Amino acid sequence: METPHRIIAIDGPAASGKSTVARLLAKRLGFVYINTGAMYRAVTWLALRHGVDTSDAQAVSALLDSTPMEFDVAGGEGTIRMEGIDPTPHLNDPDVAAHVPAIAALPKVRELLVARQREYARHADLVMEGRDIGTVVFPETPFKAYIDASEEVRAKRRSDQGLRDDLAARDKKDSTRAAAPLKVAEGAQVIDSTCLTAEGVVEEVMRRLGL
Ligand code: DC
Repeated sequence: METPHRIIAIDGPAASGKSTVARLLAKRLGFVYINTGAMYRAVTWLALRHGVDTSDAQAVSALLDSTPMEFDVAGGEGTIRMEGIDPTPHLNDPDVAAHVPAIAALPKVRELLVARQREYARHADLVMEGRDIGTVVFPETPFKAYIDASEEVRAKRRSDQGLRDDLAARDKKDSTRAAAPLKVAEGAQVIDSTCLTAEGVVEEVMRRLGL
């Protein structure tokens, strides 16, 4: 997709620090920050709220077809409303984390959310983070980073946030699924954040991408 706006694609596994880095980078550059994981989590929250089986592609599809969803921007960041409700307070719930890989593996869900993600690029320069931003959503952007960190550090970062999340199981599902699996995009700068602060990673991303 040709876009007049600049897109910085930040991908990586769960709890690699990419959300913090992407948000700081967006602030620094004055770009809009979009957390695409939140979009998959919001659909998961919706399915759980309606008692829909998260691995039932048809049932999830039907739910999406009948649900008003808004993906906007406020204060320089993406916002979400499902059926008029902001699901943000629920997106880190353990049951949402446990079910999100099933939802993210459904091609229909990905198709819908990728279209919304590309839509954002019509209106603003973006820092967008997720798993497939450099590989699928904006493969043509010259600005791609893949943020990684050791499994121990990632687990510690998640528990320091007071969150319960089986990272290893989630990463395995996200990396081995058929639809847009997590992998390093062609041309991406791979940055190991294990021994760096978030500010340090931002500096490294800017240096390596020539920003
Ligand atoms: O970044 P996160 O942990 O909030 O992402 C939640 C889940 O959403 C993750 O397990 C995989 C999925 N996801 C995805 O498949 N593609 C994206 N672009 C972003 C997230």
